[in-house]
Parts: sequence; C-alpha cells; structure tokens
Amino acid sequence: MQLLEDRILKDGNVLGENILKVDSFLTHQVDYKLMKEMGKVFADAYKDSGITKVVTIEASGIAPAVYVAEALDVPMIFAKKHKNITMTEGILTAEVYSFTKQVTSTVSIAGKFLSADDKVLIVDDFLANGQAAKGLIDIIQQAGAEVVGVGIVIEKSFQDGRSLLEEQGVRVTSLARIAKFENGQVVFDQADA
Ligand code: G4P
Repeated sequence: MQLLEDRILKDGNVLGENILKVDSFLTHQVDYKLMKEMGKVFADAYKDSGITKVVTIEASGIAPAVYVAEALDVPMIFAKKHKNITMTEGILTAEVYSFTKQVTSTVSIAGKFLSADDKVLIVDDFLANGQAAKGLIDIIQQAGAEVVGVGIVIEKSFQDGRSLLEEQGVRVTSLARIAKFENGQVVFDQADA
C-alpha cells in the first residue's frame, strides 16, 4: 500500500538492527485517516470471503482492526493479555512467546464472542515471528471457528512469521513488507495489497 510505505519512509525510525519505530501514527499516536484507508484495503482483499468477525490482540492491533471491522461491517474482538476480573467463565486461552521480549504471556478471549459459524480475519500491527497470530489462530480454532486470513500492517519479511502462518494454510495479507534495514533505511519487498 503506497500510502503506508510513504508514511513509513517519512515518519518511521529504525532502532538498532531490526526494530521499526512507528509510534507517531500506529503504535502510540494513531492517524485515524491512515487507519481508515488501511481498513478499506483489507476489507477489499477479503470482501468475498464471508468474514463475520475481526480478531486482534491488545494493544497496538486494536486501532487498525477497528477500521477493518468498520469497512467489513462486522464486530471486532481483541484478545486480552491480562486477566480481567469480569472474565469469569468460558475463557479461551493460548500461550504466546515473544522473541522480542523473551517472555511468554497468556492471551484470552471470552468464548461467547466466537462460534463455530464464524469466519475470522485476524488483524495485527506487526508480523515478526508470528507468535501472536499463532496464538490467536489457536484460540479461534478452540471455538470451532475458521481462520480465513491474517491481515498485517507491517510485515518484517526477513523473519519467520509468514511461513509459520502459511504452513497452517492461512492466507497472509501485508500492506507493507520490510525486506531489510540497510544503513538505518527501510528496504521494502512487494506488498500483498
Ligand atoms: P510475533 O508476534 O510476530 O512473534 O512478534 P515478536 O514476539 O517478535 O514481537 C513482540 C511485540 O513486538 C509485538 O507487540 C510486536 O507487534 C512488536 N514488534 C515486533 N517487531 C516490531 C518492530 O519492528 N517495531 C515495533 N514497533 N514493534 C514490533 P506487543 O508486545 O504484543 O505489543 P503491543 O501491541 O502491546 O504494543
């Protein structure tokens, strides 16, 4: 997506060897106009797939996921990373290991929000090693629902996430794909949309 790639080049900052900081429009401050355009592009890619729910994980997946849900006119559900005292029964959980943070966390969704009739599009801000998406797929399958695809805002295609998901038969749609960081600059691969 040209608009997103241009924005990454303009406002993204490469930190260290392989981290892209995009806190001015995606992961902290949110540019809702950009989110809305991204929502339309994801919705167009999945318009014939009969999506009934959009699922993401807190925190930074929520902003793009809301706009995908709006464009598809379906509910958005976000997996929680912390136990909530109001979540008392029928909780579906998965363990997610973060290579970046080197911690395992338990993520959860209340089972009442997913059913065997659901066709789900997962949306997330970054795809690196694919562990977050893998955990969400696990939860969605526990509910008997179908994972139709994974929509990613920024994929780091030099990491293993895409192959992990495609091996499970899941379609991956990334709006920007980073091939590498070279001298502090972003080098893109061909995106999916
Ligand atoms: P994985 O889910 O693909 O396996 O990712 P990984 O463990 O490597 O990443 C852990 C967290 O770091 C995720 O967010 C992920 O979105 C984020 N992340 C990975 N690479 C980058 C990057 O280059 N830039 C930025 N800004 N974030 C990156 P999280 O911990 O779940 O965070 P949040 O959504 O609560 O902020």
